[in-house]
Amino acid sequence: MKPVKIAICGLGTVGGGVFNVLQRNASEIARRAGRPLVVEQVATRHVNPDCDTSSVYVSDDIFAAVANPEIDVIVELIGGYEAAYDLVMQAIAAGKHVVTANKALIAVHGNEIFQAAREAGVVVAFEAGVAGGIPIIKSIREGLTANRIHWVAGIINGTGNFILSSMSEKGSDFNEVLAEAQALGYAEADPTFDVEGIDAAHKLAILSAIAFGVPLSFDKVYTEGISRIEIEDIRQADALGFAIKHLGITRRTEQGLELRVHPTLIPKERLLANVNGVKNAVMVYGDAVGSTLFYGSGAGAEPTASAVIADLVDVARAMETTPESRVPYLAFAHQADDLPVL
Ligand code: HSE
Repeated sequence: MKPVKIAICGLGTVGGGVFNVLQRNASEIARRAGRPLVVEQVATRHVNPDCDTSSVYVSDDIFAAVANPEIDVIVELIGGYEAAYDLVMQAIAAGKHVVTANKALIAVHGNEIFQAAREAGVVVAFEAGVAGGIPIIKSIREGLTANRIHWVAGIINGTGNFILSSMSEKGSDFNEVLAEAQALGYAEADPTFDVEGIDAAHKLAILSAIAFGVPLSFDKVYTEGISRIEIEDIRQADALGFAIKHLGITRRTEQGLELRVHPTLIPKERLLANVNGVKNAVMVYGDAVGSTLFYGSGAGAEPTASAVIADLVDVARAMETTPESRVPYLAFAHQADDLPVL
C-alpha cells in the first residue's frame, strides 16, 4: 500500500520521540494504519543527537514541507503561537493533514483552524496536546460518546505535579525542581506557562470543547497557578489530611459551563491525591458511565510521541475516505447552544 508521507517540523524532545518510535515500531504501526508511515523530511534548527536522521531530508525551513507536493501530513512540534499558526494554516491551505501537540495554538486559534480544516477537507488532530500519553481526547470523543458529560476534572500539567510532588515527598525547593523538570524536557519553553496555570488552562479549554461541544473558550478559564505555594502550605495541608494538587475543572452548572484551574486541597485517601511525579490523571463523569479515571504520563518524549502517532494512524485511515466525509477533530464544537460558557 502507498505509504503516508510525513514531515516532522521540530525535532526537540517530542519530535525526537516521534521520530524514534516511528522507526522502532514501524511494522506494528503499518499493520494498524493499513499502510507504512514514512518520515520523508524533518525541519529543525538543531540536530537531535538521539535521532539518526541520515536517511531523511533535513532542513531548517519549517515551510519547506508545505511546498512539497509529496507530503501528506505535517507534524507541527515547534510550539508557540506565531510560526506554528502560519505553518498550520499554510499546511491546511495546501490540503495537508496536520497533527500537533500544540495546546496553546489549539486553545487560542483552534476555532479558526478547525473552520479552515473543515473547508479544506483535511484532518487536524491534537491528542498529544492534552495529558501527554493518556488518550483522553479520543476517550471522551469516542469511548464516552453516549454520555451527557457532567464534569471533567484532573491533574493536567505534568511539570506542576512533578514540582508539588517533589516538594511534598522530599521537601525540595520549588526552583530546583522546576530546573529538573526543564532538564527532563517536561516544561514548556516558557515555564511560567506551567507554574502559572496557563498550560493547564489551554488543556482545559480543549477538554471542555470536546466534552461539552462548546467553542474553545480559553479566555473564560479562571486561572491560578502553583507559584505561590510554599513547603509550609504543603506541610500544613498534610497535617490536616490533605494533599495540594493543581486541578483543571470544567462542569455543568445551572447557569452554564464553569472552567477553572487552581490549586486544590484533596483528602489524602482519594485517588487524585496519590498521583505523583510527572503523571497526569483525568476524571470524567458521564450520566451513563458514571465516574471514570484516566491515568498516565503527562509529558516526556515517548509518552507524547505515543499520542502523536495515534493521530498519524487516524490520519492514515482518514486518507481512505473522501474529503467531504472527513471531520477535523473539533467537529463536535458549537453544538451545545444551550450551554453558555461562564
Ligand atoms: N509542560 C507540559 C506539562 C508538557 O508539563 O504538562 C505536556 O503538555
